Amino acid sequence: MLPSTHGRARLLSALTGQAGPGGRPVWLMRQAGRFLPEYRELRSKVSFLELVHDPALCTEAALQPLRRFDLDATIVFSDILVIPEALELGLKFVAGDGPSFDRPVRTEADVAALPWSTLASRLQYVYDAVAQLRAAASGHAVFGFAGAPWTLFCYMVEGEGGDFAHAIQFAQQYPDTTRRLLESLADAVADHLIAQSRAGADAVQLFDTWAGRLDRSRYMELVAPGLRRIGARLEDAAIPGVLFLRGAGDRIADLGGAGFPCVSVDATTDLAAVLRALPGISTQGNVDPTVLFNGTEAIHAAVRGVYEATGGADNHIYNLGHGLLPTTPPAAVGDFVQAVRSLS
Ligand code: CP3
Repeated sequence: MLPSTHGRARLLSALTGQAGPGGRPVWLMRQAGRFLPEYRELRSKVSFLELVHDPALCTEAALQPLRRFDLDATIVFSDILVIPEALELGLKFVAGDGPSFDRPVRTEADVAALPWSTLASRLQYVYDAVAQLRAAASGHAVFGFAGAPWTLFCYMVEGEGGDFAHAIQFAQQYPDTTRRLLESLADAVADHLIAQSRAGADAVQLFDTWAGRLDRSRYMELVAPGLRRIGARLEDAAIPGVLFLRGAGDRIADLGGAGFPCVSVDATTDLAAVLRALPGISTQGNVDPTVLFNGTEAIHAAVRGVYEATGGADNHIYNLGHGLLPTTPPAAVGDFVQAVRSLS
């Protein structure tokens, strides 16, 4: 399956709103990972972090779904938490518990002590992984990515996943320190995305997975300036960016466009309403990942629903509203891609 002939051009033309080779582009968030037996085989030999730190193994993990499915894009195999790991917070993944940090950020002094100046050199292995993937998947669009400042802040202050109660309390208690940390993270995230583009990524996606943990007004005040700064830097560097805000459909109209030609829309957000608010913007996603458990017919109906919500626009990138779940049957991904290929 690997040699995609039009994938790269098809995806990039949809993303930037220009005429392309036709057909609708499709890829899936978390398309590399535990739902594939060949990924589980790879992971039986190395830990997740060993895998992420090894560019050759990252390339293999990213290529696995391309061998099975007729996808138009690939995303570098990495994680949003590589930035806090490179800031020396001591990242660990404990099976079943998800990520945690030995040294979370809990005080103003912790924030002041973060080693920003060595970040780029510590993240070189990510850029090597992007360059290898670029060479191995020349017909596919290659995405780089990063976690958005607010989502990184949540993990760095909380020290783990969960309800992020400490992180939100920290933001209330220390607004100036919070602003400083979010600003430094915005610079670091923009640098990381631009470095991935220089290493060969065609486009980049910014994941604000926990946007919905903050109410709209505090988000717009505290977080939006950093997103706008990242967007401006991407635009200056002519790098097409996809902005993914999860659980925060009420902010897409404020933040989409400008530096981000494409917004990735979760399954709780009304895609047609996004398009009314931001006419002409490129969109991505919107299909609930659980639809992939409901059989071929339901998958075709969901894809058709997105087609109708976009009025058949050719600048929608077919994808899920959030990452593929690890228990997804691989055949359902084939059905999803097939449903997109069968659109008129
Ligand atoms: O195809 C791809 O999308 C692979 C690249 C990728 C991974 N993580 C690999 C991964 C991407 C884009 C991410 C992003 C990511 N990482 C996010 C934001 C995306 C989203 O879903 O909104 C977040 C919040 C993380 C942090 C993270 N990494 C968590 C919470 C976990 C644990 C999940 C769990 O259920 O154990 C990870 C681990 C992780 N990242 C895995 C993969 C394939 C699973 C690790 C394993 O093999 O055990």
